[in-house]
Order: sequence, then C-alpha cells, then structure tokens
Amino acid sequence: MSDQRPIGIFDSGMGGLTVMRALRARLPKENFLYLGDTARLPYGTKSGDTVTRYAVQAARALIAWDIKMLVVACNTASSVALLTLEVAFENLPVVGVIKPGAEAAVAAAPEGPIAVIATEGTVKGGAYVRAIQALKPRLPVVQQAAPLFVPLAEEGLVKGDIARLAAERYIRPLMATMPRPRALVLGCTHFPALKDVIAEVAGPDVILVDSAETSAAAVAQILKDKNLLNDAGGAMHFFATDAPDRFANVGEIFLGEPINPGDVEVIDL
Ligand code: DGL
Repeated sequence: MSDQRPIGIFDSGMGGLTVMRALRARLPKENFLYLGDTARLPYGTKSGDTVTRYAVQAARALIAWDIKMLVVACNTASSVALLTLEVAFENLPVVGVIKPGAEAAVAAAPEGPIAVIATEGTVKGGAYVRAIQALKPRLPVVQQAAPLFVPLAEEGLVKGDIARLAAERYIRPLMATMPRPRALVLGCTHFPALKDVIAEVAGPDVILVDSAETSAAAVAQILKDKNLLNDAGGAMHFFATDAPDRFANVGEIFLGEPINPGDVEVIDL
C-alpha cells in the first residue's frame, strides 16, 4: 500500500526549504506541501505565545489539505510550539527539528561542550539545551542568538565581508568559551546557507551540525513505522502568506532547485 497524501511542512518563511531539500533527497517519491508564513516573518524575535498562535494557524491550513504528517521546519516554532501542536492535532504525526538536531549534536560531540546558534526566541526558550541535556544530563551547552544571519541569508549575502563580519561577531566569542566547544549546532533554518563562512570562523576542529538531515531521517523512520510511505509521488506545491514571487526567487537558494512561480499560492491564515 502506498499513501499518496502529502507531507505538510511549515516555516516562518523560506528558510524551512533547507529542511524540505533534505526531505526530498531522502524521500524523492513523497508529495510535499510547504507553507511559508512570509507575511509574518520573522518568528525569531516574537514572543512564544505569538509564535504558538501562528504555528497552530499554519498547521490548520495544511491539515485542511489532508496531510499525512506535519513537519515543523522552523526552529523557533519547534522550540516553543511543538507540544501545543502535538496535543491539538493528536492523530497526526508531528515532527520538529530540535530533537533531531540535539541527537545529531550529541552524536557529534558526546563529551561536549556543544555550542548552539539560533534566533533570539529559540535561545531564550532554551529548547536545545533541554533536548541535549535530556540525552546527556549536565553536558555543557553554550548558546548565542545570531539574528542578523536571517536577513543575510535572505539577501543571498552568504559569502564576503558582511557575512564574515557577522560571523566573527557571533561565532568568535562563542568559540572562545572554555572549554572550547567541539560541535556547533546551526539551530535556525537560514544558517545552513552561511555554512562556509561559519565553518571558517569556527575553525576546522569544530563539527557543524545541521538539523535538516537528521530531521529528514526522523521523518523517514516515522513514515516507515506507520506504513505511510509513498512510492508514486514526487510533487511539491507551495503556499506563502505574502510575496509569492519573492518566495519563488529567494526560495531557490534554500531549496537548491528551481521553484515554478505558478506553484506558489498566496493564502491568508
Ligand atoms: N525559521 C526561523 C527559525 O528557524 C528563522 C527565521 C525567523 O526568525 O522567522 O528559527
């Protein structure tokens, strides 16, 4: 039996397409519906209550399209709203990116310390620290909000002087903490786009952890366990709450493949 219903993914904007990219690489026969809440981006500077309300609205919009699973690609929404979503939509498998990211970080640096860069909201909520220490109690974790990386990635300014200055501002002090972190978690959808410059500033001895890959592995495992895999799909469709043309243009940077503007529909949540 093949379950052709789509997997629903949402993010505050286009950055979550990095997660969809990893999902498509691992699950090429699945159909995907992606919702980017571009009208209300960024989530990372908003309160947990507001982000939770937005996340529930986004989930409802996707559920109306009969999705078989919900992937919360946004780190900020995963960190503050996952439990609410799991309770509100109890019959639907819901996967966030924090736990898979924490698992990958602990696998990469089992003795720590682990450094995390994320949005202000994710850092303040402490979800990565809790998820890492749930796997390994007392493992040292240091965090740093890196909000400027979000607009830099969206502008395509992922290399060169400006990206490098921002990386030095955020990464250098974090890496100077003692003992020196062994792994650095890219705890935000947008940060993989700046991976090269982040790696350069962090140094060759630090392992960068991208939660997109491990989240895709978690999704694949759940689909398999619940007998929900599709062997005949491969389509993708997009919803944006604003600026569909920009979504298609900028989205390509994150998705790593072209987005047909005709596949991007505007919706109101
Ligand atoms: N998607 C957000 C995250 O992963 C980053 C952009 C935002 O602040 O909305 O945390």
